[in-house]
Amino acid sequence: MMELDWLGGKIAGEGVLRLSKKIRDLEDVFEDHAAWTSMDPETLVYSVEWTQPTAQDNEGGLFWGVTVIEPGRVGEEFFMTRGHFHAKRDRGEYYTAVQGTGMLLLMDESRSGRWEQMTPGSLHYIPGHTAHRVVNTGQDPLIFWACWASDAGHDYGTIQREGFSHRVIASEGSPRLVPSTQP
Ligand code: 6PG
Ligand code: NI
Repeated sequence: MMELDWLGGKIAGEGVLRLSKKIRDLEDVFEDHAAWTSMDPETLVYSVEWTQPTAQDNEGGLFWGVTVIEPGRVGEEFFMTRGHFHAKRDRGEYYTAVQGTGMLLLMDESRSGRWEQMTPGSLHYIPGHTAHRVVNTGQDPLIFWACWASDAGHDYGTIQREGFSHRVIASEGSPRLVPSTQP
């Protein structure tokens, strides 16, 4: 059995997996490369904890995890996850936010984009064939829980090469969605 710190975004128990992404790990994720270069490479951007009770390729199995995105910006762009399609394209996922405010960016395989506002209690269904990225547009950590198919896998390469259809930037302090000019 696992124990959740629901609002703190932590999982306690045996076999919990953890990763964190710092500025140094996220080259070419943000548009403003000069701003990225000028930042402390050790700055934490987000961390993930998840449980993997079955093998990664277990058809029908489920994973459960939490992501904490720190508040911050690279240039005008808010801190965000790398974003991905699932390697098995038809695999869906649920996200639910418990702390903070942000945006869930979604994009289908024809690069048609949409977004959903994330606030405590918002529940988001990410259908298959849909890339997903979360942007923290607030002043506090954005914490959301997720449940996904254990054989979903991650395709980061497509987003690395082609980017998302939109980016979220601070415009006079408020978040604004702008079409991407480059990956
Ligand atoms: C998944 C989930 C989720 C995601 C994290 C970090 O499929 O595993 O969507 O756990 O991995 O929020 O985002 P990135 O994987 O895009 O870096
Ligand atoms: Ni996912």
